[in-house]
Amino acid sequence: MDFTVEFQPLGLRIQCDQDINALDAARQAGIQMMAVCGGEGTCGKCVIQILESKQLQQPTPTEIKHLSPQQLDAGFRLACMTTLTADTKLYIPASSIIEDQIMQTEGDAVQQELHPAIKQTTIILNKAYLKDLTSDFSRVKNAMVDPSLHANLDTIRRIPPILRENDWTVNLITRGNRVINVTRKKIETPLGLAVDVGSTKIACYLIDLDSGKVITAKGTPNPQIAYGEDIMARLAFAIQNRENAEKLHTLTMDAISLIASDMCRRINREVHEIMDFCLVGNTAMHHLFLNLPADSLAVSPFVPVMTDPLYPSANTLHLSAMPGAGVYAPPVKAGFIGSDHLAFLYATGFGKDNKIRLGIDIGTNTEIALQANGHIVSVSTASGPAFEGAHIAFGMRAAPGAIEHVTIDEDGKTIIDVIGGQKAIGVCGSGILDAVAQLRARGLLNHRGRFVKDRPCIQIDENGKPLFALSDGSQPVTLSQEDIDQILLAKGAIRAGIDVLMDHLQIKPNQVEEVVIAGAFGSYMLPEHAMGIGMLPTLPLDRMRIVGNAAGTGAQMMLISTNARQEAETLAEKIEYLELTVYPEFPIFYANGIRA
Ligand code: FES
Repeated sequence: MDFTVEFQPLGLRIQCDQDINALDAARQAGIQMMAVCGGEGTCGKCVIQILESKQLQQPTPTEIKHLSPQQLDAGFRLACMTTLTADTKLYIPASSIIEDQIMQTEGDAVQQELHPAIKQTTIILNKAYLKDLTSDFSRVKNAMVDPSLHANLDTIRRIPPILRENDWTVNLITRGNRVINVTRKKIETPLGLAVDVGSTKIACYLIDLDSGKVITAKGTPNPQIAYGEDIMARLAFAIQNRENAEKLHTLTMDAISLIASDMCRRINREVHEIMDFCLVGNTAMHHLFLNLPADSLAVSPFVPVMTDPLYPSANTLHLSAMPGAGVYAPPVKAGFIGSDHLAFLYATGFGKDNKIRLGIDIGTNTEIALQANGHIVSVSTASGPAFEGAHIAFGMRAAPGAIEHVTIDEDGKTIIDVIGGQKAIGVCGSGILDAVAQLRARGLLNHRGRFVKDRPCIQIDENGKPLFALSDGSQPVTLSQEDIDQILLAKGAIRAGIDVLMDHLQIKPNQVEEVVIAGAFGSYMLPEHAMGIGMLPTLPLDRMRIVGNAAGTGAQMMLISTNARQEAETLAEKIEYLELTVYPEFPIFYANGIRA
């Protein structure tokens, strides 16, 4: 009996026609798993989590030895000890993979005047003596000339020993009129963390708050993927009960703390030295990382609990940080327009000039904004996960073994670029886009997006369906008609969003002065191919600006400057949200958009 094994977070799937060992299945899918003992069941490195399966095997003695009871309860097993016999969905933790998938953290360099929320002031106090019985904290307030200065009990407890052991000198770390911590001397290179919590990945930037420079950056797959590939699936899980929502919250916070610890370790610092945070994300991620009830986001009319900026303590959110550290969570706009969109628009100049500018952040939901005629209007369109490799037979995320670029010559022969230079095992979004654009340009797809079957390079599979091979060899990576249909639906949704905005603000395509493209897929795609398949309006290439993870850049700007926070909040008020589903012409634009 045929069955499917799906590997997350890579998004890879393989078909099996007989029972298979999970480690072998991963290898067959081209995934390089840790297997130090070569599958003997002794090293304990090949950890997987069974997310969905008809039958979860009882743990073997080896698994009981290597995995905790909590892990076993949560479906963790050793791949080499697991036999797969039916449809199974697996999660492979990053620690079990030899090569991580590519996690985009790069964005434009931050151009932002420094104005951090956290300040350090080193003060030298007059020593207490019998003729001056002023309390320690009153001395601090007097030295700071701020009677409103206050601190929590833990901080106040730390002041007396420092004063008396440090010659009445103390370094105050303050946010506004609140002393969040005290140290003996000024901390050189004070640390802050800017985080873009994406549905697929979490990008973290460790920042020197004195210079505003990024010290180091790191990305990791969002571990929530284990509970649903798309946002709606995760929301459905979260709203089942409070424990589920807490689980998604904790997973996210633990992942951020883990990356932060790792980055700090790399520079010989401690995670408990991080003083300030800025966290952005789409509205679902925002609600989950803040541990806000997400029920209203899961059902129409998809109303957020809160759109205002929030300033919780890092401690409240269970983030590893300096005691007293705070988190800035910028405002969200609507159920599908989050603070990552605001950060993207802020970082790319929206609201700062009058240029007619289109901003597109391509993901499972693609947020699009058009600035024109004194307005900034945003929409969110359900473009689906096809550009992230899901719902495509050989689709996968950008990871070693993924075809990232394809050139097709006149005879239908392909030249492919594979990430990591290894054997192709799948194709990621940019490769799929290249392929579809060139299949169309070479006349191998007709205007309705159907394969032209009489061309020699179009193969026919055993079911009589057309197929195009991107790579050769005994196990080629192929594109089917169903795959092409998925891509056309995805690009059609994006184009319809753009057309609605241009229609709404009465802008013709050639009036657009700049198209800003963000997101992991957007960074690797070739704009000429996006124009070639009609995903973007046809414009001169020099009007296209690829900005990488601009939401991460915006989060960094807001981390290092309270002025940036205010400007971004003003921008948020200016953004008008347009609901596509109630726009009368949307169905027509969508029908036009899905043409090849
Ligand atoms: S490969 Fe060593 S325990 Fe599975």
